[in-house]
Amino acid sequence: MNQNPPLTFRPGIIGTLRTANRLIRSATHEGMGNPDGVPTSALAAAWENLARGGIGLIISGHAFVDAAGRASRNQTAIDRDELIPSWRIPVEAVHRAGGKVMLQLAHAGLYAAVPEPAGPSPSAPAPGKPLCREISSRQIIELIAAFARAARRAREAGFDGVQLHAAHGYLISQFLSGYYNHRTDEYGGTPENRSRLLVEILKAVRREVGSDYPVTVKINSEDFITGGMNQAECAVVCRRLQETGLDAVELSGGVQAPEACFSPVRRVPLSTPETAFYREAAAAIRKKLHIPVILVGGLSSLHLCEELLHDQCCDFIALCRPLIREPALIRRWQQGDDAPSPCIRCNACFRPILTGRGLFCPIAARNA
Ligand SMILES: Cc1cc2nc3c(=O)[nH]c(=O)nc-3n(C[C@H](O)[C@H](O)[C@H](O)COP(=O)(O)O)c2cc1C
Repeated sequence: MNQNPPLTFRPGIIGTLRTANRLIRSATHEGMGNPDGVPTSALAAAWENLARGGIGLIISGHAFVDAAGRASRNQTAIDRDELIPSWRIPVEAVHRAGGKVMLQLAHAGLYAAVPEPAGPSPSAPAPGKPLCREISSRQIIELIAAFARAARRAREAGFDGVQLHAAHGYLISQFLSGYYNHRTDEYGGTPENRSRLLVEILKAVRREVGSDYPVTVKINSEDFITGGMNQAECAVVCRRLQETGLDAVELSGGVQAPEACFSPVRRVPLSTPETAFYREAAAAIRKKLHIPVILVGGLSSLHLCEELLHDQCCDFIALCRPLIREPALIRRWQQGDDAPSPCIRCNACFRPILTGRGLFCPIAARNA
């Protein structure tokens, strides 16, 4: 009998952060912010539940660093110092349960739910909607400072690290993507120029939090839209981020424009066998890096997690929807029941979140 523990359950390291295993709760908007963006007590309970369920690291739902980048009504905020004490409550709940937690820092750019959203270039957030405003060079400087201050607040609130949300067609991803970014200044045009905002944000964050604080980035391995960021560009950006002091990169994919081939939250027909959406991209990009690669998207079995780690496609596995369906999935696997997650990736989990009813799987609730 094989006496070695599964690779999935071996401890991991991201910068100075040690995790109990290789499993990460990928950032999941919980819809548990009050109208001022303050995290609710329900959020502390949900995170504590996840930590008790055995996950090695929780990444929070996207928290906005500036009110102009707010994506939804019940989103949490990290845009002002007075929020720091409120964030200590869920962070301490995770730590008491033996878990680790990072805050995801975000700005929705042209998809912000504000009266006059702004993005890298004038573009309509949805068919029939007015074009967004173009962000000025002066506003870019303010944005960089907003991310840096948010990271400092996360550290002061006790978070174990931060993740910059540079995926899924939100603001940083809009700058990275030739689909959204048509600027002619030093923030547009060549891939190097398009990644300048992200690199400058990372530098500014490092200056605020120091070199020993774990900082990760979630980025699209591919935008899956004509003119968007491709895998080769993503690899170059990841190398630049590594040189700038990044601790780990999480690879995702897709943007929210209607003409994109794939949504970041891909629906998968029930008949489709389990696939890691970005497996090939992760394997190729990881070969060019020495920082850990986190792979998200489509994973629901311990068997596939083991295979991906064994084949050196990635160093960590991130899960979102399977943990909404079953927050104690990891504990169940650790206890010897390795049946895959029953999540069918139908995206019904968005309904309660967007209507402020919390984070749960309506299918599981119906069957209970
Ligand atoms: C309800 C819900 C909320 C999400 N919120 C975020 C978020 O705040 N930030 C983010 O980067 N990704 C978010 N995602 C995307 C997931 O982190 C993940 O990339 C995607 O669901 C694919 O992983 P999965 O197949 O394990 O669900 C969300 C997904 C869902 C279903």
